Amino acid sequence: MKAIFSTFFILILCTLMAWRWPVAEGEAKTDDQALLLTKESRLAEVLQQLGDTPVPHQVKTDMELVSAKAGEELVTLGFGRGPGGFKTARQSKHFVCTSCHNIEKEDPDLSVADPQARLLYVKDKGLPFLQGTSLYGAVNRTQFYNGDYSKKYGNLVEAARNNIREAIQLCAEECAQGRTLRDWEIESILAYLWTIDLKMGDLVLDEAEWDRVAQALDGPGNKETAIQLLKEKYLAGSPATFVTPPADRKEGYPNEGNVENGKLIYELSCLHCHEDGRYAFYRLDDSRFSFKHLDKHFSRYTRYSVYQVARYGTSPLNGKRAYMPNYTLEKMSNQQMEDLRAYVVQMKK
Ligand code: HEC
Ligand code: HEC
Repeated sequence: MKAIFSTFFILILCTLMAWRWPVAEGEAKTDDQALLLTKESRLAEVLQQLGDTPVPHQVKTDMELVSAKAGEELVTLGFGRGPGGFKTARQSKHFVCTSCHNIEKEDPDLSVADPQARLLYVKDKGLPFLQGTSLYGAVNRTQFYNGDYSKKYGNLVEAARNNIREAIQLCAEECAQGRTLRDWEIESILAYLWTIDLKMGDLVLDEAEWDRVAQALDGPGNKETAIQLLKEKYLAGSPATFVTPPADRKEGYPNEGNVENGKLIYELSCLHCHEDGRYAFYRLDDSRFSFKHLDKHFSRYTRYSVYQVARYGTSPLNGKRAYMPNYTLEKMSNQQMEDLRAYVVQMKK
């Protein structure tokens, strides 16, 4: 009897010891409150608990008017709300941030920038396939406008390379061709971006790797190597390689086009902006007229050549300053370009 009783007592004691008080959102954790590792755990918090230096773009919560809600509205609707709910002027006449950026996870494996893996992934999730990198997880990155973007924006990129606030402003003015954001608006966008930061479940970790992180958080595991492990699982910056149209536009790139894949690109990318003139004047749809027009110009040296607009983008015109951003190699491969062409050729018939 006594034995049963003490076993019972020990069991209760163990349960009590294993129990941790849940920490309310936003409440700072002290060092002796270990983080319970779940798929929903925020990567930034896990890294911090492991002793990593926090990324520099923490929100200045003491700034007036700042709210994640206002940030979300700016990103998805293009205007913010000031005191008393007044609407600010639209940020851009032409675009909202989501014209060019997803706000959901768009890569199955965040450690690589693979446009084909992304295309299939966004198709499954019902998302578009775009020139800008998803803003989901942007706050976990530390480098912006990488690679060849310095060719496009020159010195402007320098300030933005390691500074997310400058990156947001640069994009508002240059990518979205809109007005300068006020400080509270930038801070609000940042606050919103912190609501779509990476969670542990977004990373591709096998069981052993997961255990290594858990052990390091709450046991004898090595914290340094756990930090390293986590950082290999996502990109600190989105790589960007500018490429040119094929040397011979009639011949195209030396890839055999895949019609099915081309259909995905047309529908998830081109139509996102061009259907019913949503974000562009130039209209595209599923009519033979559209496909004939695209086919005719594909191989030409005109402003309607898809090779031309996809690889170089278009430049903002005076007065109507909407323009088309170019696709880097990481956003559309040469193979995918030929897939699109094969689809266009098939559909014009
Ligand atoms: C017309 C298209 C377009 C619009 C509109 C646009 N962006 Fe971008 N943005 C881009 C492209 C292209 C890049 C290049 C780098 C990348 O995303 O890979 C970029 C880069 C960025 C980056 C740096 C991302 C990185 O990892 O390098 C941020 C942050 C950003 N934009 C935020 C915004 C915000 C906030 C808005 C709305 C106010 C906005 N963008 C509107 C196209 C656009
Ligand atoms: C992020 C939005 C966006 C995406 C995605 C996009 N475009 Fe565009 N595109 C534009 C804008 C804006 C223009 C500028 C001219 C305008 O407003 O019509 C343009 C211009 C063009 C032009 C030249 C039209 C002219 O009047 O000179 C062609 C052709 C074109 N796009 C085809 C495509 C194709 C094909 C795709 C898919 C691979 C595509 N676009 C994807 C926004 C986009």
